[in-house]
Amino acid sequence: MSTRAAQALARPFTLGSAELPNRIVMAPMTRAFSPHGVPGDDVAAYYGRRAAAGTGLIITEGTYVDHPSAGDIGKAPRFHGEDSLEGWRRVVGAVHAEGGTIMPQLWHVGIQRVAGKPPYPEAPSVGPSGVALDGTEGAGEALTSADIDRIVEAFAEAAAQAERIGFDGVELHGAHGYLIDQFLWERTNRRTDAYGGDAASRTRFAADIVRAVRERVSPDFPVLFRFSQWKADNYDAKLATTPDELQEVLGPIASAGVTAFHASGRRYWEPEFPDHDSTLNIGGWARKVTGKPVVTVGSVGLDAVFGPETFQGSGAGVQSIEGLLERFERDEFDLVAVGRALLADPEWARKVLTGRESELVPFTKDSVRTLH
Ligand SMILES: Cc1cc2nc3c(=O)[nH]c(=O)nc-3n(C[C@H](O)[C@H](O)[C@H](O)COP(=O)(O)O)c2cc1C
Repeated sequence: MSTRAAQALARPFTLGSAELPNRIVMAPMTRAFSPHGVPGDDVAAYYGRRAAAGTGLIITEGTYVDHPSAGDIGKAPRFHGEDSLEGWRRVVGAVHAEGGTIMPQLWHVGIQRVAGKPPYPEAPSVGPSGVALDGTEGAGEALTSADIDRIVEAFAEAAAQAERIGFDGVELHGAHGYLIDQFLWERTNRRTDAYGGDAASRTRFAADIVRAVRERVSPDFPVLFRFSQWKADNYDAKLATTPDELQEVLGPIASAGVTAFHASGRRYWEPEFPDHDSTLNIGGWARKVTGKPVVTVGSVGLDAVFGPETFQGSGAGVQSIEGLLERFERDEFDLVAVGRALLADPEWARKVLTGRESELVPFTKDSVRTLH
């Protein structure tokens, strides 16, 4: 007899040209186990293990596009250069061999880059206006329009390479206060050219990237766009305070050619706009205002929320997913991403789908310190 979880989550889903075996997605999680930016066999085995245990779609850790200021973690994987791309090709092979699907998360950290850090220590920190997430001016350089064109091209080239080496789609990291999100957010985008001003103008950089990516990949190649209200170190930040404002932000990005949105919330059961007489979370609202498929995420299967303590290995116990299943049964979203619970337990999907929740492993220090 199939479990309630299996009825909700074991159904396949079509995302453009990708046929996902079920609704369970591994959330993108930076691990920094790729020396010189090259993912090795251990990284391939790590993702392959999760595919083998029934994770339908893997979104990889954020991986840097080809721009010197894109990142600041030496061992985070890059998405350019022969060695890195060859490493990624092997990761794709390991996941496909187990019947899974996989998309890289393409990343540029923007003004969050800490000066002097690898992989290119001399590269400046750059953002739409040189303004830091806390509003400090002059924290880095404001991008010129030539820089913007170069970064748009870097995302497009990465997407083209992703399709070439066999990935099933790409995810653009437009969340958490990184570069694309810095353009979307009023506090960090003070530009007076076509990339700044009102909410619609602030979406231009994101929409340009989506359009440039679309031009370089096959028509059905899935392009996911991850966004969030919250920013690193600022969990109360908001891009949109009403459904109409959310529509203003996501509408132009959707029209540019996004296949699906990945709505990054921290607790999936939180109503996003409680004044609007609805219990929909940010994912449910994203689906409602754009009509696109949506991935939800946030504390699935765990009793403590994601935050900076997570990286010090602050633990979280196993929690029931009944509330999530109810939302699936109400058809609020299409897919669910699981972060820390899947780090702790590579077998999370199989256990949940076969009614073995009592065997799930809690999230502990070791979950983040090792690549298992
Ligand atoms: C170790 C770790 C690294 C993360 N790195 C990324 C990342 O590279 N890109 C991203 O969009 N989110 C990243 N996140 C956020 C997760 O994708 C996810 O949204 C968050 O952990 C909430 O889901 P959870 O409650 O199921 O863990 C990271 C989270 C963790 C725990």
